[in-house]
Amino acid sequence: MLQQFYPENEQISVFVGDRIVDRSEAKVSVFDSSVQGGDAVWEGLRVYAEGIVHLSAHINRLMESAHALSFENVPSEDFMRDAIRQTLDANGMKKDAHVRLTLTRGEKITSGMDPRLNQNGCCLIVLAEWKPLVYDNDKGIEVITSSQRRNGPQFLDSKIHHANLLNNIIAKIQANVAGVDAAIMLDDNGFIAELNDTNLFTIKDGRVYTPFADACLPGITRNHVMRLAEEAGLSMSEKNISLTEFYNADFAFATGTMGHLTPVSKADGRTIGNAEGRKLFDKLNKVFGESIAGCCERP
Ligand SMILES: Cc1ncc(COP(=O)(O)O)c(C=O)c1O
Repeated sequence: MLQQFYPENEQISVFVGDRIVDRSEAKVSVFDSSVQGGDAVWEGLRVYAEGIVHLSAHINRLMESAHALSFENVPSEDFMRDAIRQTLDANGMKKDAHVRLTLTRGEKITSGMDPRLNQNGCCLIVLAEWKPLVYDNDKGIEVITSSQRRNGPQFLDSKIHHANLLNNIIAKIQANVAGVDAAIMLDDNGFIAELNDTNLFTIKDGRVYTPFADACLPGITRNHVMRLAEEAGLSMSEKNISLTEFYNADFAFATGTMGHLTPVSKADGRTIGNAEGRKLFDKLNKVFGESIAGCCERP
């Protein structure tokens, strides 16, 4: 599924560095670290009438990613919240919007890899667009398994939410070539890590499972769903999940800020799910929908 272009987004204002500019002026330098080395961290946020879902958790993950990468002169949380507020106000966005919050290591004094060439601090980008949920959550998505492995901590820790997305982009290209929506990425032992853009869950015999967060992003929606499952009295656990287990699940679904809970209807040509699994998923999806407003925060 290709995300649509919404003409309303032609006129948007974007926060770059320290100010709001028109979309046509929203640029970083050719010396910026994001251009030089994909050296940036990011978060995807969703805006509802009640505020931004799990805003504090997203800012915290951005800060932790920046800390892990030794970014210097990171803007404060207050600065980030203010930049988000200013951007949403400038665009009149009170709901149905998505924010791509990016923090680059900033501009270098000359091209090169060395972070010591960054002497002017980080660059914050708040890109807010009108955007509905990305996937059709009634129909679900079809996926294939990618030959591209998801990074574990021995390569490049997937707990850093960095903007060097080539690992996932290669998997997405394979999904595109296969004519499906997304690609399952395995860890280096061949267990399921996640999709190229969202986390995965299975339901089997009334129990809910998700892969250990060893080679996947520990998604904020993933945490939310795990908590809701436990609160609903369901058996919820992290475990190694093989492809065979995934194909034979009573239900499989993906989670992420960009799509909420999305059924995975087919993987590698195998139809997944049955009525029992669907019933449990519908229950979880309903409590998730009801819980969203309570998880929103004003920037
Ligand atoms: C690779 C990957 N997995 C999972 C997710 C879902 O994470 P979250 O629920 O925090 O949006 C994302 C979101 O950016 C992602 O990039």
